[in-house]
Amino acid sequence: MKPVSATSEQERHRRDWEDLGKLDPLWAILSDPAKKNNRWDLEAFLESGQAEIDAVMSKADALGYPRQHRSALDFGCGVGRTTRALAGHFDQCLGLDIAQAMVERARSLNGDIKNCRFEQASFDDLVATPNASFDFIYCSIVLQHIADPDAIEQHLRQLVGKLARDGLLVVQLPSWLPARRRMQVRRRSYRMLRSAGVSGEVLQRLRLHPISMTAIPEPEVTRLLSSMGATVLDVARATEVGTGIESRTYWVTMPGAEVGERAAA
Ligand SMILES: C[S@@+](CC[C@H](N)C(=O)[O-])C[C@H]1O[C@@H](n2cnc3c(N)ncnc32)[C@H](O)[C@@H]1O
Repeated sequence: MKPVSATSEQERHRRDWEDLGKLDPLWAILSDPAKKNNRWDLEAFLESGQAEIDAVMSKADALGYPRQHRSALDFGCGVGRTTRALAGHFDQCLGLDIAQAMVERARSLNGDIKNCRFEQASFDDLVATPNASFDFIYCSIVLQHIADPDAIEQHLRQLVGKLARDGLLVVQLPSWLPARRRMQVRRRSYRMLRSAGVSGEVLQRLRLHPISMTAIPEPEVTRLLSSMGATVLDVARATEVGTGIESRTYWVTMPGAEVGERAAA
């Protein structure tokens, strides 16, 4: 399996999200067609993150995890829509994102929230983060945009490795895509023209975008998580991803595992 950091695909993926982060970040995060071209109302956008995290934390309480509320990681945090809502539940929250443009917007939007920090991070930065660092890890509508299932698996492995003992990882991934979503014509055209030197602005005017979508069947994901020594507490149907897409949210803990025993490479 090729390491994620060794691929030029990762560099193209980062460039795609930099383009999106500069041109239309809120639509790139919640892709409601009516909100394209910077038409999201900021207050409504941020309220959606609060409502999402309220529901997540009430389910977390019902499951009895995480046992401690010291630190949270929002992986693929975008502009901090959900990170800022996590700040009410954890002592310290870190938002990591592959795109510097997203991180800069997150910092400017959430400067008043003192226990939130935002950093640009590549896969290598995630690997370099000490194991068992976070009581809670949230990763929603992020891994689905990585085109290579092997790379998704490597990200999942790392996220599980960063989870503290009796912590909680909540991670979403589509489990099935309709055929038209698998073809990704707009994305292929965007990639080809962008690599030929056409700017993101021009491609946006042509109504092209680079957002990709990948699915991994639920049994494969649960098998993978179990092979890492994690316990899958629940798998729930996720509804917010898009028409025709089957998506799952996995609720995962690492009970009783010692840091040195972690499966993360
Ligand atoms: C659809 S947005 C979701 C943002 C945030 N999770 C939310 O729900 O508001 C996806 C975000 O994931 C980031 N992202 C995509 N691939 C990533 C990766 N491999 N590592 C870190 N961030 C990534 C993108 O830059 C983008 O900000």
